[in-house]
Amino acid sequence: MPRAIISPSVLASDFGNLTAECKRMIKGGADWLHMDVMDGHFVPNITMGAPILSSVSKGVPGIFMDCHMMVSEPEKWVNDIADAGGALYCFHLEATKEPLPLIHAIHARKMKAGVAISPDTPSTAITDEIANAADMLLVMTVYPGRGGQAFLERCVPKVAELRARFPNIDIEVDGGVGPKTIDVCAHAGSNVIVAGTAIFGAEHPEQVIADLKSTVGA
Ligand code: DX5
Ligand code: ZN
Repeated sequence: MPRAIISPSVLASDFGNLTAECKRMIKGGADWLHMDVMDGHFVPNITMGAPILSSVSKGVPGIFMDCHMMVSEPEKWVNDIADAGGALYCFHLEATKEPLPLIHAIHARKMKAGVAISPDTPSTAITDEIANAADMLLVMTVYPGRGGQAFLERCVPKVAELRARFPNIDIEVDGGVGPKTIDVCAHAGSNVIVAGTAIFGAEHPEQVIADLKSTVGA
């Protein structure tokens, strides 16, 4: 299995101090920072876009921005996110009819390409062709749209199905993941762990990061 990666979701951070929050997480052992981009259309909320990501990447040298694009027209933002310093561009399979050209467009801008599936999308929607072109698959364990929701354990079998089909790809889980839910995620074969509330809400985030990482890496 690929290496364990912890990607704290800044949605649960203090947005007024975003660069400081990202630095605090990196110091605490975070590998990536998960940036939730919501457009008020694919999901009901609006969060942040390329201008904010650009400020963060300038303010936090070396940051790996794992950009989770909860947007209706993911084709539209590839250039802006690349220009803003995005390292990984993860779009929702439900939001596009043309996943393969989109993956190629993301790669053309030197970003890694991720493909996300929402709770109601089966793992079989990820074709061999898509997975072979992509760098990462994201199995949502909540309905996208906001942080702090309860983990949907019924999504976990999709992780195991995808891991069985694709032993070497990065598989990310996102939504309600934390010390109480990490075991099933790790056991199913996810290696990229997003956690918002569980990390930013903790008294000692570095301890939570270390615990999540050792559970996945074990
Ligand atoms: C939900 C977002 C998640 C969310 C995770 O739409 O994609 O990244 O911020 O937050 P927690 O870990 O609090 O569920
Ligand atoms: Zn997310």
